[in-house]
Amino acid sequence: MEKYVLSLDQGTTSSRAILFNHSGEIVEVAQQEFKQYFPEPGSVEHDANEIWTSVQHCMTEVLRKADVEASQVVSIGITNQRETTVVWDRETGKPVYKAIVWQSRQTEDICHDLKQQGLEETFRQKTGLLLDPYFSGTKVKWILDHVEGVRERAENGELMFGTIDTWLIYKLTGGDVHVTDYSNASRTLMYNIHELKWDDELLDYLTVPKAMLPEVKDSSEVYGHTVDYHFLGENVPIGGACGDQQAALFGQACFEKGMAKNTYGTGCFMLMNTGDEAVASEHGLLTTLAWGVDGKVHYALEGSIFVAGSAIQWLRDGLHLIETAAETEDLALQVNTTDGVYVVPAFVGLGTPYWDSQARGAVFGLTRGSEKEHLVRATLESLAYQTKDVVHAMVEDAGLELKKLRVDGGAVRNNFLMQFQSDMLDVEVERPVVNETTALGAAYLAGLAVGFWNSKNDIANQWNVERTFQPEMDEEQRNDQYDGWKRAVKATQAFTS
Ligand code: G3P
Repeated sequence: MEKYVLSLDQGTTSSRAILFNHSGEIVEVAQQEFKQYFPEPGSVEHDANEIWTSVQHCMTEVLRKADVEASQVVSIGITNQRETTVVWDRETGKPVYKAIVWQSRQTEDICHDLKQQGLEETFRQKTGLLLDPYFSGTKVKWILDHVEGVRERAENGELMFGTIDTWLIYKLTGGDVHVTDYSNASRTLMYNIHELKWDDELLDYLTVPKAMLPEVKDSSEVYGHTVDYHFLGENVPIGGACGDQQAALFGQACFEKGMAKNTYGTGCFMLMNTGDEAVASEHGLLTTLAWGVDGKVHYALEGSIFVAGSAIQWLRDGLHLIETAAETEDLALQVNTTDGVYVVPAFVGLGTPYWDSQARGAVFGLTRGSEKEHLVRATLESLAYQTKDVVHAMVEDAGLELKKLRVDGGAVRNNFLMQFQSDMLDVEVERPVVNETTALGAAYLAGLAVGFWNSKNDIANQWNVERTFQPEMDEEQRNDQYDGWKRAVKATQAFTS
């Protein structure tokens, strides 16, 4: 009977289970969206139990659809929305509060206080991150400070902290295993990425008890097995875990120093592999752990854009301008330009290179002639402009010229966007055959752990281009349009400063 690897891709707006065969091809997909909670402006929360329910649904659904037995699954790989923070009771497994999502801004005051104490540089040097509400550390502190009785229980060792990978492994193993991997640990603001350990000094500043923290492991190793009542009667190894953006870098086979990918998901995240060197950024990029494989870690430089696909979702669910994301390609192509309209989708602040957590979205350049098509096109273009901001930072920091960009994520199906991206960057944009690279990366990591694949070489040989977009825009037009974007961002920031 044929064997498969099951990848669980737990994202910001939906959970997915994807079954891959030995050739790295998608056999079947199951997906379920779950509820988003917005308790106050700028706050975003999930219910960790609802996430778990959706993951269980997808696991059983994907096997049913593919007509595959659980015994044919050789390994499970987990990849997850990163930074999102869950705190739960060690014994009962019951979360003490909602999961605070990476996009949530509710810890702005905590970040501000830490900055006032002059601690940003210490955090940056040790973790490669900035004091922004994006990361988990201040979210854990917020839960301990705001939920009654929780700090005391944490200090007594009764509670566990985890990002979503940790939460899912805990649930899948029936509460037996409390681990995370290097890539996820490196997003917490509590992990020293040079010494590869939880950092006591930072934990002190954040007032987070060490007893809550998971053990940090390689991204490719067997952490435990599913307990039979959770996975159709089978004890399947959980062989890999990796934050979704790092998993995509792995799935894009960016194994060599200098190789980069950009994922267009809820947000947009560009990562460049920097090998065994933790490159410190001077231009607002993050230094992060890419993965640990065979006891050896790789580092990456990352540009984080908070709103990308979710801007298209806003056109659909907020403004009701479109019914499906797929329509945006045709709509954008119905006009030749945006006629000077710019959308700056800073709904939850701005990430790389601005790091302005107070900025909020704006639309510029409207005239009486502005139509839906202009607004849709301007929203798509904003993804490409934000990516160009990040590429600039990366080229400056790494001192490398970007020749090609590998892309993945839902929005790369939009040919208009990919062509515009290539035009804006003036580089080739390569879209792979398997564009579910995040899930594929997690599958590869899980498969490597059990010998389903033998080496990174096997994996690199499976990577294929589906379509390459060549730059067609002339330089003057490119510069003009990009200048307009820079002015729009400046004006957006001025409004809230
Ligand atoms: O750091 C946040 C990132 O991991 C979220 O990814 O795919 O849910 O947009 P995604």
